[in-house]
Amino acid sequence: MANDAVLKLEGKEFPLPTMVGSEGEKAIDVRNLRAQTGYITYDDGFGNTGSCTSGITFIDGDAGILRYRGYPIEQLAEHSSFVETAYLIIHGELPNAKQRRHFGDLLRLHSPVHAAMDHLFEGFPLGSHPMAILSALLNSLGCYYPHLATNRVQEDLANFEEASAIAISKVRTIAAMSYRKSRGLPYCENFLHMMFSQPYEDYVGTPEVAQALNLFLLLHADHEQNCSTSTVRMVASSGANLFASVAAGVCALWGPLHGGANMAVIEMLESIHAEGDDGSKFIESARSGKAGHRLMGFGHRVYRNYDPRAKIIKASFDKALASLGIKDDPLLAIARRLEDAALSDQYFLSRKLYPNVDFYSGLIMRALGIPQNMFTVMFAIGRMPGWIAHWKEVASNPKNKIYRPRQVFTGSAKRDYVLMEKRA
Ligand code: CMC
Repeated sequence: MANDAVLKLEGKEFPLPTMVGSEGEKAIDVRNLRAQTGYITYDDGFGNTGSCTSGITFIDGDAGILRYRGYPIEQLAEHSSFVETAYLIIHGELPNAKQRRHFGDLLRLHSPVHAAMDHLFEGFPLGSHPMAILSALLNSLGCYYPHLATNRVQEDLANFEEASAIAISKVRTIAAMSYRKSRGLPYCENFLHMMFSQPYEDYVGTPEVAQALNLFLLLHADHEQNCSTSTVRMVASSGANLFASVAAGVCALWGPLHGGANMAVIEMLESIHAEGDDGSKFIESARSGKAGHRLMGFGHRVYRNYDPRAKIIKASFDKALASLGIKDDPLLAIARRLEDAALSDQYFLSRKLYPNVDFYSGLIMRALGIPQNMFTVMFAIGRMPGWIAHWKEVASNPKNKIYRPRQVFTGSAKRDYVLMEKRA
């Protein structure tokens, strides 16, 4: 084939087919490489590896483009809602009025948790991290709905509509309950109420706050092969059910380099503030790029340009803040100074490090009164439709192969067992 790549190795030439995606991204197909040459590829962190073909989300990181099922994120942010976007991501098309109503009804139907599940919360110590509770309880859904979690792919796919509605809907209820239980507050129905209301006080938000939350969830709904989604796909590739797969996604999301960054941003801003720094000393040390010094909320594996989600979230943030009458937030002032400084600093410019979605999302949630250890849980609620769509893509692929990378072994060569008395 004219566009085959040719690999020269040990005096021989091996043609490797190439592939082109629907948006023109190019790949070299190495599926037969090891069989033909005895070599594998080495790609620490998978920065150059396409682990699958996917039709859900398109990102052009150099151009700062993000599209769900072909629709630009900016258009969805302006016209759509989180629930409609969830439908789009999972089913591939925008719903008509009837489909949208049916989807909403399903979500409402599945919102309350199974009465027996309530007891599970009691087992966790007070102060448990809600991400740990969330992952455990999502996985436990398979115990309460065993007919939806058989690990027989065809059966689980046949019940996909019910299982996916349960996952999207219950993630909110479980999240809110885990927060309230961890604080020793009684259970109540609505999500915002569950999160914020004291026993006798109703939570009152502004429409701008509700819109900012809706946008936050919509902007997090999918992001192609990120760490947690790849984890979901990896678990799904073994034939595991939807609940087990998304529970694993929650664990991967928790880390500070991924979804935990929104919490890490606030911790960073608080420590800068506590030290009386206006951000300039911190920027200085962030140039080391070392863990613990990094400018959290900056940089992205794929975006080498402004994260389009960060632009949208920042605009909605300004509106929500104005509606809440918040003007002088010292952390916000530090964040703005850090952003300005980094965007004119050679270290950040030369590495194409721009603010990512987490730089402002933590500040938004803080302004809305969402407690810090719930930030990543909010991300998980938003990402659920994406994880579900990717589970379905894997489960319904008749050519699915189990995800099983290889390695370059660098440990000890063969050696003989040493008896205890002869060990140093
Ligand atoms: N502050 C300072 N230096 C940085 C940063 C940062 N935030 N991010 C990357 N660098 C440096 C890094 O030290 C390296 O420098 P050098 O080439 O001199 O060694 C260079 O930039 C490339 O970095 P990398 O670690 O090879 O890039 P990566 O693609 O492996 O990592 C990242 C991407 C997001 C993990 C990283 O940029 C980071 O740690 N950012 C802070 C955490 C964060 O905000 N995460 C949220 C990501 S967006 C939401 C999500 O998807 O979860």
